[in-house]
Amino acid sequence: MASPGGFGSFSGRIHLFVFAFVMFVCCLRAEAATKKYQFDVQVSNVSRLCHAKPIVTVNGRFPGPTIYAREGDRVIINVSNHAQYNMSIHWHGLKQYANGWADGPAYITQCPIKTESSYVYDFNITGQRGTLWWHAHIFWLRATVYGAIVILPQQQTPYPFPKPDNEQVLVLGEWWHGDVEEIVKQGNAMGLPPNMSDAHTINGKPGPLFPCSEKHTFAMEVESGKKYLLRIVNAALNDELFFGIAGHNMTVVEIDAVYTKPFTTPAILIAPGQTTNVLVYANSAPGRYFMAVRPFQDVPIPVDNKTATAIFQYKGIPNTVLPLLPQLPSPNDTTFALSYNNKLRSLNSRNFPANVPLKVDRKLFFTVGLGKSVCPTCINGTRLSASLNNITFVMPQTGLLQAHYSNMKGVFTPDFPDKPPKAFNYTGAPLTANLFTSHGTRLSKIAFNSTVELVIQDTNLLSVESHPFHLHGYNFFVVGTGVGNFDPAKDPSKYNLVDPPERNTVGVPTGGWSAIRFRADNPGVWFFHCHLELHTGWGLKTAFVVEDGPGKDQAVRPPPKDLPPC
Ligand code: C2O
Repeated sequence: MASPGGFGSFSGRIHLFVFAFVMFVCCLRAEAATKKYQFDVQVSNVSRLCHAKPIVTVNGRFPGPTIYAREGDRVIINVSNHAQYNMSIHWHGLKQYANGWADGPAYITQCPIKTESSYVYDFNITGQRGTLWWHAHIFWLRATVYGAIVILPQQQTPYPFPKPDNEQVLVLGEWWHGDVEEIVKQGNAMGLPPNMSDAHTINGKPGPLFPCSEKHTFAMEVESGKKYLLRIVNAALNDELFFGIAGHNMTVVEIDAVYTKPFTTPAILIAPGQTTNVLVYANSAPGRYFMAVRPFQDVPIPVDNKTATAIFQYKGIPNTVLPLLPQLPSPNDTTFALSYNNKLRSLNSRNFPANVPLKVDRKLFFTVGLGKSVCPTCINGTRLSASLNNITFVMPQTGLLQAHYSNMKGVFTPDFPDKPPKAFNYTGAPLTANLFTSHGTRLSKIAFNSTVELVIQDTNLLSVESHPFHLHGYNFFVVGTGVGNFDPAKDPSKYNLVDPPERNTVGVPTGGWSAIRFRADNPGVWFFHCHLELHTGWGLKTAFVVEDGPGKDQAVRPPPKDLPPC
């Protein structure tokens, strides 16, 4: 007779089943880990370019800590605010499915975390791998409150490119001598742009071409014959940047956490908000080579044109060897900019398909304009402002997501127009009359799961300029782009609907347009804005309200208990 509970018995089989189930659950868990971080927002003294000043940091570090996670992980970040500013943090490029509460833009998806309060950002990373970043999303605090997010592919899933021997995060930034919030306040009081930055930085350091910066130089040691993955983030506030390494080409393999068809280039162009991963082979004569960063600006608008450098240093080479500078495209090289962006293509492989919406349910056309608003206390009685479809966005006092979720009236109107009030020759001669814009907290309402095409058209109101537009909650496909006015009759036939670049921030060319497509499958309120902080501050922003879907998991989740009150 078999002993009771033995494997032959019924209860034995149940035990075996339970054992197998526990193993299954445990191993699923092992794959999808939870990564916890503590972010203490605090003021620290930092010295650069011969000046010391207090800056807002995370954990006293500048740039802040890199978040490491794997695709599929849950990430829990407790942000404790010890700085004098009420603030919030945005996880730029993470989709936050039905979970806008964790997205972070102040007054859009949450109210700011007050001084000496905390908020937990709790989210899953689903279907994304690569480099993204995080930054403060209120005032200009992101000048110093930023860091990288590295999402590794799932275990046992290789990169679709040669495996690097090592990798390095390079976060590009801008630095001001003075207190950035004070500088911005002064600019706003006059209604003029604030002083431009005094330096660019690589991992927080301007490099030896600046005074007092020998010890503020980032160096990366490489070994001859090895290959390196550089994870490059443009965290600058207002400057589109060229980046290159003397004596070395780069192979672009990923943008905004989406794999691309690889191509080799001596320089990359990266707009504020964007990320670019490149492979670099250390196969030049062993030596010291400058990595250099400087802005791209193809209109006569003043820009901080200084070059930041870091060092790509072969092992064993003494520090006395003077590095060479790379030849970057000239600062106004429009041709390079257009042709570089044209080379970006989604990988579109079996494992990483480009699911471009082929049929469009909703067509939107937004014009980007600079303009003026009344400001009795400003120098000319007016302040510079900016608009989409001639609407300067007015920041609400309540989080828009909360207003949407709880059906609060009077916070926003869901009537952002699908096209500008009137058509004109958008990119003709400069338009300097009738620059006053209308003002409002107007949002564009989108049906769940509908496919959207949005053409973003630059205009010559005051001046043409290139604008990096960022959409929260989504990636989109950049199906077309061009110089001049978008032609709805001719341009769509030239769209790339096969392998267009998929990203979260698109550079709209100077005096041109970009067409993007996405499927509105993520319910919530999602900010859409120019990622030049100057222009965001002037009102170059709106938000999409994407309605809930019919499914239980297709509705905005209930807000977390610790959501900061306004
Ligand atoms: Cu990186 Cu709304 O921003």
